Amino acid sequence: MATTIQSKPERAIPGPPRQWLFGNLKEFARDQLAAMDRWAARYGDVVSVRFGRREIVFLFHPDLIEDVLVDRGRGFIKHYRLRQTERTLGRGLLTSEGDFWRGQRKLAQPAFHRERIRSYARSMVDYTERMLAGFQPGQMRDIQADMMRLTLHIVAKTLFDSEIGGRSQVASEAMETLMRAFVARTGRLIAPPHWIPTPLNLRVERAIRRLERILFDLIDERRRSGEDRGDLLSMLLAARDEDSGRGMTDRQLRDELMTLFMAGHETTANTLAWVWLLLSEHPQVEARLHAELDSVLGGRAPTFEDLPRLPYCASIISETLRFYPTVWMVGREAIRDLEIGGWPIPKGTTVFMPQWVVHRDRRWYDDPLQFQPERWADGKLDHIHKYAYFPFGGGPRICIGNNFALMESALVLATMANRFRLRLAPGAVVRPLATMTLRPAAGVPMVVAERPSAGA
Ligand code: HEM
Repeated sequence: MATTIQSKPERAIPGPPRQWLFGNLKEFARDQLAAMDRWAARYGDVVSVRFGRREIVFLFHPDLIEDVLVDRGRGFIKHYRLRQTERTLGRGLLTSEGDFWRGQRKLAQPAFHRERIRSYARSMVDYTERMLAGFQPGQMRDIQADMMRLTLHIVAKTLFDSEIGGRSQVASEAMETLMRAFVARTGRLIAPPHWIPTPLNLRVERAIRRLERILFDLIDERRRSGEDRGDLLSMLLAARDEDSGRGMTDRQLRDELMTLFMAGHETTANTLAWVWLLLSEHPQVEARLHAELDSVLGGRAPTFEDLPRLPYCASIISETLRFYPTVWMVGREAIRDLEIGGWPIPKGTTVFMPQWVVHRDRRWYDDPLQFQPERWADGKLDHIHKYAYFPFGGGPRICIGNNFALMESALVLATMANRFRLRLAPGAVVRPLATMTLRPAAGVPMVVAERPSAGA
């Protein structure tokens, strides 16, 4: 694959000077997004750093990213930071490898087929309307918390046919703890194993137990009823190993459910929180959205069939995922000696590929620091490199929920924008915080206003 990098393996990969013990870990932990921006600007498309004992290579060029995720995907496994989430996610779809992963992916895939996803649209809109019933003009709300609860209800209903009800608050708080723990561990040379009762580990343990309680309740309810409801939970419960004929153990089930629960709601919730912030900052974008909604829906609730006629709504979601990529970086670890872009990547090296940097690179986007949904209109960006925009990753490990997430985001946005406008609370400042996902650092306080022409 042609790249901008010259083949010069005899030279060391460029990178910032390293402190003897931490290497570049402290600089990274201080502000991960700013550190990556700086390294890309100073050292180019391939940058070598060290985090403690770990050799890390950052790739900032789409050719090289495609090489790792697609062409040479088999030379890599997921990276150490994901392995550190093992106590939480176990061996679920996101973290497992090899034949085990392939089997589980095959099992889960039908729940994400187009026709299946289409049947989720109604629930997505219904739950959004239920939430909106509690919205009052003039009210101040933390929209990030609202989106978190909403997407949790949706994922539980669509994939596990369950009502989360009042448990959504407990789940959201537990998620918050886990995400903050991920950040707290970023700058540490050694993360104490989860069974050592440090204050952080104890908090994490409590959060995991709370989430597990919810998941085990879902599994128990279904096992007791013995019903096959045709949803993902029933598919997982009915699955049998081809050789042994055995079903999934409770542990495997727990890991898959936890993964889908976490990957399936936090990402979409943060995307929607960013959408609302950006609309509040760009009233002209909001006005165009309202015009589209009014002309296509005329005040009624959106359906799956309406989506192709709401291209501007889709452009807002695409642009938000470019501007604030909820998954801000994907990573892999080389399992054998490799060469990427002419540079040697020895076995054991961690390779990080940040959407955050690539999506804001002026080589691929005009005015990349401007939020412009129009850039996606009429296939204008069809020609860009496939991996200059990869909010859902790529290759065999591409997000299984990408179409689910895009449909959910569009339906929630259309349903909400039909009825209300949201404005950032006066004086509030929202900054991105890079946890496992890119989320607003301290919520998004917004004031609710009725739309004059809404619901007409
Ligand atoms: C805007 C929302 C979302 C974003 C930005 C997003 C992003 C991603 C990315 C970048 C990956 C690849 C990670 C890697 O290569 O290491 C991924 C994997 C995954 N995502 Fe998503 N995701 C979103 C929504 C969802 C939803 C709604 C679900 C499920 C309902 C989901 C479930 C998963 C799972 C299970 C994986 C692992 C797939 C595998 O390795 O086979 N995601 N996601």
